[in-house]
Amino acid sequence: MGPKWLKNAVFYEIYPQSFSDSNSDGIGDIEGIIRHLDYIKELGCNALWINPCFDSPFMDAGYDIRDYRKVAPRYGTNGDLIRLFNEAHFRGIKVLLDLVPGHTSDQHEWFLESCRSEPNEYSGRYVWTDHAFQGIAGHPYISGMKERAGSYMLNFFASQPALNYGWLDRTEDWMSAPDSPEALATREAMKDIMRFWLDAGCDGFRVDMADSLVKNDDADKHATAAIWADIRSMLDRDYPQAAMVSEWSNPYQALCLGGFHMDFYLDHHGNGYNTLLRDWETEGGDHSFFKKDSGGDILRFLNDYLPKYNISKDRGYISMFTCNHDTPRPAHTLTPAELKLAYAFILTMPGVPFIYYGDEIGMRFLDVKTKEGGYQRTGSRTPMQWDSGINHGFSDAPASELYLPVDLSDDAPTVGSQEKDPFSLLNETKRLIALRHSLPDLQADAPFSVIYAEKERYPFVYGRGSLIAAVNPSSASETIRDPAFAGKKVIYSIGECSVNGDELTVKGQSFAVLE
Ligand code: GLC
Ligand code: CA
Repeated sequence: MGPKWLKNAVFYEIYPQSFSDSNSDGIGDIEGIIRHLDYIKELGCNALWINPCFDSPFMDAGYDIRDYRKVAPRYGTNGDLIRLFNEAHFRGIKVLLDLVPGHTSDQHEWFLESCRSEPNEYSGRYVWTDHAFQGIAGHPYISGMKERAGSYMLNFFASQPALNYGWLDRTEDWMSAPDSPEALATREAMKDIMRFWLDAGCDGFRVDMADSLVKNDDADKHATAAIWADIRSMLDRDYPQAAMVSEWSNPYQALCLGGFHMDFYLDHHGNGYNTLLRDWETEGGDHSFFKKDSGGDILRFLNDYLPKYNISKDRGYISMFTCNHDTPRPAHTLTPAELKLAYAFILTMPGVPFIYYGDEIGMRFLDVKTKEGGYQRTGSRTPMQWDSGINHGFSDAPASELYLPVDLSDDAPTVGSQEKDPFSLLNETKRLIALRHSLPDLQADAPFSVIYAEKERYPFVYGRGSLIAAVNPSSASETIRDPAFAGKKVIYSIGECSVNGDELTVKGQSFAVLE
């Protein structure tokens, strides 16, 4: 299953430009992260994922990389990043960087070379057609902008040309095979970048659009997965402690075929994850399971999750997250009381959980203007709220110079105020993470089983190894019977829960772990 440290890992995702600004230029930076490592350790997180911090024109907030081997000057230097690795390791915290293998910035040196009309080493590094008047059916492309007579394919925004890993189904002469010299050269270049940062001390990568490499791949993405399996064998051989988490959201493809250690369970349409905390767009109102009295149905989650879990559980981990830099914050629709129950669930499920910076205090999804290609995602990317000081302690710069505005509401949650309140979301999150660390049966590997899950009924009760967890997001108290409850006692609870013989009572808006 890969690196042992994942068994008990709880990740914290940091959006570097919005976490902490150490030099008062209004933009978060690496030194700012270093200064808050003790906070992260106290929260209980023992691993970080840092969004791209590399040199970039920032047309997509850094997912448009100009130089993979250079830290963006606005965040610091390569030396600062290495210092972050060391300071984190000193505290028992691992650090994953963000690997963007599918595309670069259109200002990357490779792309500038590939745009030249004279053939050169980089002519095959990106996906190009043979003629300026020939497009790429079914895919976004740009023609007529460069000296080279051809159209080039895009992987995301117009500033992000697609790197060439070849095509599985080849219908045109200009389409490379996945094992062509030019496609193999792209793959080797990406491995070199991985080795560069692993040798510098990073502990692995979150992989952006990991399923996007080979074009016209088959339904199970075998050709793309084969590239990752090849990269996994390099890691197993040379960096056995390095961990990889994919932005793929298909555990069979990512974990079983591709050899990723973890795969995010994303908020894709039709995913069970959506039905838990982000189901506000369904007809007839919000039916998220964790929204109190929303009529949420846990079966909608289980019907999607269980087959994914069962097929992949011996091969890798499904990663649930509170939110990420692309999704609305859960506090957009859930109250702190609802968030506690949602986090209790996320932190007691199998696999490896991720907390997005600020979700531990219930930071809100703000209505702000787009920044660096964020568009509607920008509301989840605002500065961390540390305290009641200027700019909530994020930065000393004048408010007008901040990367994004801070939450100006009077009751904006902050770390400082929540640390003082024993019942705050922050303190509940800390206790939940500590609970997970103290009980191996709540960690990544312990088996998951369903004990009570009925359509539109509460509570939801599940087994983890020899433990039982129960959650009731509705407002009404519920009592159910099962022989599995006999002899168990409540060892952790939010709200009120009790066991009486084979009867379990979970009061409204409550959660419990039984031993
Ligand atoms: C991923 C990232 C997102 C980015 C896109 C293109 O989805 O999470 O932020 O814009 O890929 O790289
Ligand atoms: Ca700064």
